[in-house]
Amino acid sequence: WHPKLLKGQRVLITAGPTFEAIDAVRAITNMSSGKMGYAVARAAIEAGAEVTLISGPTCLTPPTAAKTIAVTSAQQMLEAVNKEIGETDIFISVAAVADYYVLNPSGQKIKKDAHILTLELAPNPDIVANVMNLPNPPFCVGFAAESENLYEFAEMKRRRKNLPLLAANMVQDAIGQEDNELILFDDEGTHPLPRAPKIVLARQLIAHVAKLYHHSGNK
Ligand code: PMT
Repeated sequence: WHPKLLKGQRVLITAGPTFEAIDAVRAITNMSSGKMGYAVARAAIEAGAEVTLISGPTCLTPPTAAKTIAVTSAQQMLEAVNKEIGETDIFISVAAVADYYVLNPSGQKIKKDAHILTLELAPNPDIVANVMNLPNPPFCVGFAAESENLYEFAEMKRRRKNLPLLAANMVQDAIGQEDNELILFDDEGTHPLPRAPKIVLARQLIAHVAKLYHHSGNK
């Protein structure tokens, strides 16, 4: 570990959940607290990077050294990423982006009655896949949250999204927790990072990112 591992590199990080409105007060979301993504932002700052943090709704205080952009929905997160991506050397997608949004959300609070309420869901854009499809993408790091078959599903996800590095975790052990356990997947194979506080894992992840990033021909 070296404090200047990413000196001068511009790192864009997404964190937290997204929140997909059903009506004026309700939404579909998930239990992501933002702790893992904020820890990655802190570790990148410690490594000397210029950090932009795009965050879904969380209760956390962002690191003061990061430029923070607050978003609500996956669509807003995509727009914020698209705005920043041209100025980015390394993109780390830690956010638990909702895979679906609600078609035609109500502007008013929906009133309860005796009928069954049916919501129509449409798929959200895949933000990290969009970034990888840019003509000149930055170095991209994905996360994978799985509830079973971690090794198999994570490597499939890394290949499908064409990512040089992916950090996988078991969602029930990771989401909302103080500690986590990560397995890093890259072209060389797998690198398990044993259970530890999220900031410790974030520092190990950033050290691995810096190694691959510099080896991939970047200064
Ligand atoms: O926030 P915490 O409480 O600390 O919890 C941390 C965490 C469990 C949320 C985190 O460690 C984690 O695993 N984040 C990724 C969660 C996730 O959405 O995984 P996924 O397997 O559904 O997505 C794979 C990758 O594609 C992720 O990098 C995700 O950010 C990205 N993605 C997913 C869907 C989408 N529409 N756009 C995306 O960019």
